[in-house]
Amino acid sequence: MTSVVPHSDSRYQRLPEDVRSLLSDRLQMVSTSTDSPTAFHPPTTPRATGPRVATAPHSPQPSDRSSPRPELSVALHNVSKTYRNGSRALINVNLQIHKGDFLFITGPSGSGKSTLLKLLYGQERPTEGIVTVEGSALNRLKGNQLAMMRRRIGIVFQDYKLIPRRTVAENVAFVLWAQGYTRKEIHRRLWPTLKMVGLQDKAQCFPNELSGGEQQRVSIARAVVGTPPLLLADEPTGNLDSENALQVIKILKKLNSIGITVIVTTHNEHLVRVSNHPVVQIRNGYLRHLRR
Ligand SMILES: Nc1ncnc2c1ncn2[C@@H]1O[C@H](COP(=O)(O)OP(=O)(O)OP(=O)(O)O)[C@@H](O)[C@H]1O
Ligand SMILES: [Mg+2]
Repeated sequence: MTSVVPHSDSRYQRLPEDVRSLLSDRLQMVSTSTDSPTAFHPPTTPRATGPRVATAPHSPQPSDRSSPRPELSVALHNVSKTYRNGSRALINVNLQIHKGDFLFITGPSGSGKSTLLKLLYGQERPTEGIVTVEGSALNRLKGNQLAMMRRRIGIVFQDYKLIPRRTVAENVAFVLWAQGYTRKEIHRRLWPTLKMVGLQDKAQCFPNELSGGEQQRVSIARAVVGTPPLLLADEPTGNLDSENALQVIKILKKLNSIGITVIVTTHNEHLVRVSNHPVVQIRNGYLRHLRR
């Protein structure tokens, strides 16, 4: 079993500046962990039998013993977000997502989709209301606890955020290495993950040698190599043609099928239409269900 190195002498400090700045959200201020890294495998939480998404305000505790439901992965309770400049990005949003669910978030540009993901990731704080992720109310977490929580969330961005002068394998392995995983453990996780996204033959390529779809798949590999129970993907298909977009969605579905809760924002109505997953729409900050 490997342990996570203390922050004070962390490998994080020894990373080159370009790498550190790209990974800072994920790695900074982490001091200890009870994680025990193993080979790539799904989270241990039971797979949901079907998607369950609700909008009613909810106290995030399983209560109804007669109909057992998977635990909540995410709950937003009366959440509003107004930015300092007065932009009202989200208004009184209530949403529950259970472990093992797959949710699409759609809505026009500027409607609040990324803001919602940023609240889940703790990058922004709500002006009102409570955001609970994987059992923790984020408003109660201090800086270091928030960093620990972020380890349990994989994030995929539209613009990939890959480290330019590092190979595919290094891009994916850096997060694990900086968290103190041994070389052996990194290898045990890296190769199955690259295989899962179909990039085992591109491991030694640099990002500028890859297509957009391949770069996006590297970013997915990086997001899930630490086997997070929750994956957030903000417009992961936004820069891709329809074939690559479908491939990315297929990978996200595969991850969901092994138990990872997946939340995806997208403008792509076709992708949403051809899928049978629940869909919520955000419009002018208000959230409503299009499909449950
Ligand atoms: N850091 C910020 N400061 C001030 N206003 C912001 C900030 N980030 C977002 N906003 C505003 O909040 C609203 C919602 O933005 P958000 O990025 O969540 O939209 P979005 O649905 O993700 O849009 P897109 O589809 O274009 O990515 C917009 O009016 C935007 O201008
Ligand atoms: Mg956005």
